[in-house]
Amino acid sequence: MNDKMQKIVSLAKRRGFVFPSSEIYGGFAAVYDLGPYGVELASLIKKEWWKAVVQVRENIVGLDSSIFMHPEIWKASGHVGGFADPLVECKDCHNRFRADHLLDEIGVKADEKMSEAEIGRIFEENKERLKCPNCGKSNFTGIKKFNLLVKSNLGNFTEDWNKKPVYLRGETCQGIYVNYKNVLDSTRVRIPFGIAQIGKAFRNEITARQFLFRTREFEQMELQYFTHPKEEIKEYNKLREFRWKFYLDLGIKEENLRWLKHENLAFYAKEAYDIEYKYPFGFSELEGVHARGDYDLSQHAKFSGKDLSYRDPITEEIYVPHIVESSAGVGRILLALLSEVYTEEKIKDGTRTVLRFDKKVAPIKIAVFPLLKNKPDLVDKAKKIFDDLKTRYMCEFDDNGNIGKRYRRQDEIGTLYCVTVDFDSLEKGDVTVRDRDTMKQERVKIDNLEEYFEGRFAV
Ligand code: GAP
Repeated sequence: MNDKMQKIVSLAKRRGFVFPSSEIYGGFAAVYDLGPYGVELASLIKKEWWKAVVQVRENIVGLDSSIFMHPEIWKASGHVGGFADPLVECKDCHNRFRADHLLDEIGVKADEKMSEAEIGRIFEENKERLKCPNCGKSNFTGIKKFNLLVKSNLGNFTEDWNKKPVYLRGETCQGIYVNYKNVLDSTRVRIPFGIAQIGKAFRNEITARQFLFRTREFEQMELQYFTHPKEEIKEYNKLREFRWKFYLDLGIKEENLRWLKHENLAFYAKEAYDIEYKYPFGFSELEGVHARGDYDLSQHAKFSGKDLSYRDPITEEIYVPHIVESSAGVGRILLALLSEVYTEEKIKDGTRTVLRFDKKVAPIKIAVFPLLKNKPDLVDKAKKIFDDLKTRYMCEFDDNGNIGKRYRRQDEIGTLYCVTVDFDSLEKGDVTVRDRDTMKQERVKIDNLEEYFEGRFAV
């Protein structure tokens, strides 16, 4: 892990954004928990996504389908047969790795969409240069495709449930496809229209890599947009533009984003691009934007025996809608934002670390401090201000340590403004407001605080 990445992981833990799962039991690989600021940040990312994708769009509606679904769905989708990563094992230390990742590390392009034989051949050709990241030996087994679906015995009370498992969903969009008719029949939407969903997905990733970037449990935000077949590529291009802008609006600089066109398409895709972000470990996928054709609805129609075609109410044309999708991971956006806003600055008395979040996603907007915690007059006044502001903004009351330390702590979680109540406040009815980015302080009348912040937080 490089230096910046290590600093981010350490700050995320130290300041309550992200904790390793089950830490007191020695940890649980590739799973993370969100701490108090992490959950706030994730919820703001989801709120912004929902606002952009559902709230301000007239023809996109929301859904919350279950994690568990009929197991036939995963056969129809192609996941039972084809959702697999190429696995190799080191014969010396018995650690397992993704063959495409090992190849990637020596600069050879391969990916999980290649067939077992194809990637096996590339692996064999480069065998001499490939070393086990754990023990350094060069003694690997052949490649085997390993299915990523996570199995469960939900509702199966027999010993050999493994023969007829149900699956924890590997992506949220299947819940959308199987509810497409329900949405059509119960709402006013007509093609073109979209269904959006945010929820957990699970994948048995072989190697956990780069903190939140690749986890076995993660949250997806997916939009499936149903179009007329002839409109698919036009809508796909519109979707790509729309998704790019979303990241700029979250405060990500354009130079840290790029498009990657998929040369090897997933089994369902007609055209696919990733939006990549420049993480501390290099450009990697942030979200996928895919043109999926009629693959999904046709497969579900075939496997369920139900007619999933659409009749246009005006032209009476009947067709199977084509789908364009946007699929983003909350964890990857959270990591991208932490990477984007993490800043170290030289100041008079050393270095300050500050998370320069955009106001939309800063977990805490305002912190309120009494100058001293053992002066009841100061504490009471600060509490009163905190109580007034907290109903509108996510605020924090902090009376621990000296003011300098409190500023450092708030900078490290990205709090936009700090309000300090001091002895002058008791006399003159004003407070010091300190701006996170400029560190400038100004006196503001307590009676004017509401208006002061309204101006600053207006969208
Ligand atoms: N429905 C399409 C689909 O799921 P994907 O490219 O497999 O496509 C979409 O995943 C997004 O989900 C990725 O761009 C990423 O943001 C997130 N994602 C996928 N696997 C992940 C993992 N193991 N850990 C964290 N996020 C993941």
